[in-house]
Amino acid sequence: MKGAGRTTRGGTNAPAPSVAEQLELRPGQSLELLKALHILTRDGRINQDSRRKLKQVYHLFQFIEPLLQELSADGHAPLLADHGAGKSYLGFILYDLYFRALGRGSIYGIETRAPLVEASQELAAALGFERMHFLNMSVAESAQLAAMPERFDIVTALHACDTATDDAIAFGLQKRARAMVLVPCCQAEVAACLRQTKALQLARTPLAELWRHPLHTRELGSQLTNVLRCLYLEASGYQVTVTELVGWEHSMKNELIIARYTGQKKRSAAERLRAILAEFGLLEALGPRFGVPQGA
Ligand SMILES: C[S@@+](CC[C@H](N)C(=O)[O-])C[C@H]1O[C@@H](n2cnc3c(N)ncnc32)[C@H](O)[C@@H]1O
Repeated sequence: MKGAGRTTRGGTNAPAPSVAEQLELRPGQSLELLKALHILTRDGRINQDSRRKLKQVYHLFQFIEPLLQELSADGHAPLLADHGAGKSYLGFILYDLYFRALGRGSIYGIETRAPLVEASQELAAALGFERMHFLNMSVAESAQLAAMPERFDIVTALHACDTATDDAIAFGLQKRARAMVLVPCCQAEVAACLRQTKALQLARTPLAELWRHPLHTRELGSQLTNVLRCLYLEASGYQVTVTELVGWEHSMKNELIIARYTGQKKRSAAERLRAILAEFGLLEALGPRFGVPQGA
């Protein structure tokens, strides 16, 4: 009897969804990879803790896949750099779902923690993902590395800590990336600068109430940083979209910034960027990071 002895859904006799259905697996997707990333247990069951990560990565893939399709349509071999790669969930899933079948193009994972880089190198070798490369260095160092390709098509940074997202943007600009897909993480630098000039700003403008309390300083610092990043990208010739990565229940750091190169450098964005930095007393400390030279 069909479905006999199986768990049912909603009081009907419909069979419980299979692991493949629950994880929305694509045909040919590597179960070995999902086990190695601990998304599946060794006996093939779903590890609910890791599932959250997979959900984020799948969601990102929805945005990255059309970019890759566009970039590889004419036989081009796309190059993607993933900064602050961690265990390289994103890189591995991208390779498995797209680069593997494409048969060309490479992914570079950049990560400062040596054990994670070694583990990723071993896993890529075990799975035969030969066009995945892992570099044990900071984002900023990777931009200076002579052995790196001169151009990259896509730059990703998923929860790369603090200013690593800014370094990823600098990398993308240097490598003339066609697209950048960024999910910023915690951000402390702007909040620290705001803190330093708080008393002065409170005397100068009632708007400084927005960052009087330490919690607000931190939150505004994060918000402001992402606004500055978007303006910087627009001023550098990118069209920017800001959206949610996944529902807030899945991650507190949920802002997804997608920038696509159009070549149209928005002067108004550069002007606003400078004005905001000046208004918040951040021009000197942070101007150079966002393309505003000192004394400009
Ligand atoms: C929160 S984890 C995210 C890892 C991965 N992207 C993910 O979403 O699963 C951030 C990673 O960035 C790495 N990292 C932090 N600053 C970095 C930098 N400047 N350059 C390269 N990696 C960095 C950390 O070691 C850490 O593994």
